[in-house]
Amino acid sequence: MPALAEMKRQGKAISALTAYDYATSRLVDEAGIDLILVGDSLAMVVLGHENTLAVTVDEMLHHTRAVRRAVRRALLVADMPFGSYPGTAEGVANAIRFVKEAGAEAVKIEGPRIELVRALTEAEIPVVGHLGLTPQSIHRMGGYRVQGRTADAALQLKADAQALADAGAGALVLEGLPREVAAAITAELPIPTIGIGAGPQCDGQILVFHDLLGLTFAPPAKFVRRYADAGALIRSAVEHYREDVERRAFPSDEESYHLPEAARRALEASQTAIENVVALRKA
Ligand code: KIV
Repeated sequence: MPALAEMKRQGKAISALTAYDYATSRLVDEAGIDLILVGDSLAMVVLGHENTLAVTVDEMLHHTRAVRRAVRRALLVADMPFGSYPGTAEGVANAIRFVKEAGAEAVKIEGPRIELVRALTEAEIPVVGHLGLTPQSIHRMGGYRVQGRTADAALQLKADAQALADAGAGALVLEGLPREVAAAITAELPIPTIGIGAGPQCDGQILVFHDLLGLTFAPPAKFVRRYADAGALIRSAVEHYREDVERRAFPSDEESYHLPEAARRALEASQTAIENVVALRKA
């Protein structure tokens, strides 16, 4: 967390990305990303749910542990899923599980949960706040809608952001906001902001790993930039493999294990002996 604060002080942009398993987390970490979030978006992009509400604390812990085994450099943040902080005591107890059982270095909490953020800070658990379009509030918001579009709503967001920082949050995700609102919050806040669909003036940017790589099945949101089409790459590789299997072009002799010469000869000799006995019996 102090490294992120230092980056804001120095005006260095913070790169952040979600990750959910060992292999991709290793790649993300080795690519030099500053912050890796085991986001509850895993409910949708990994587990195939309609929204983020269904994912459980145990599922999030399972994935956070896998990511922990891979990450050496980035700050590892675990998302507290919907229903894991109905009150301050339950929120603190669940956050402790993410640190103790899964090795998270910070937890992310959606919404202006000031009392909880203060309690987590007192319990020595660094917190990343999350304001704006908070997917766990999908039913209250009536869908995934850009937030903060009126002056009143923007002022409320600024006040909430300040209250989260005062309560001890170490960074703040700003999602689905007009860029002007995110820029104003970023300029006033002492802690770094990390934007997703919140314009270029945040202190850092985060995307969902599967969005960045074209591994999702719905049309991407306006703010997503696809850096590669890994979906097409995987589909074509798997089709190629299936064709090779079907036409017996895989595996080749080079891709097969071989018996040592002496063992091969011994096996052939014993097969010949068996064939001779069978032939003799038939005769
Ligand atoms: O769950 C998630 O992936 C997130 C980020 C997109 C900020 O909350």
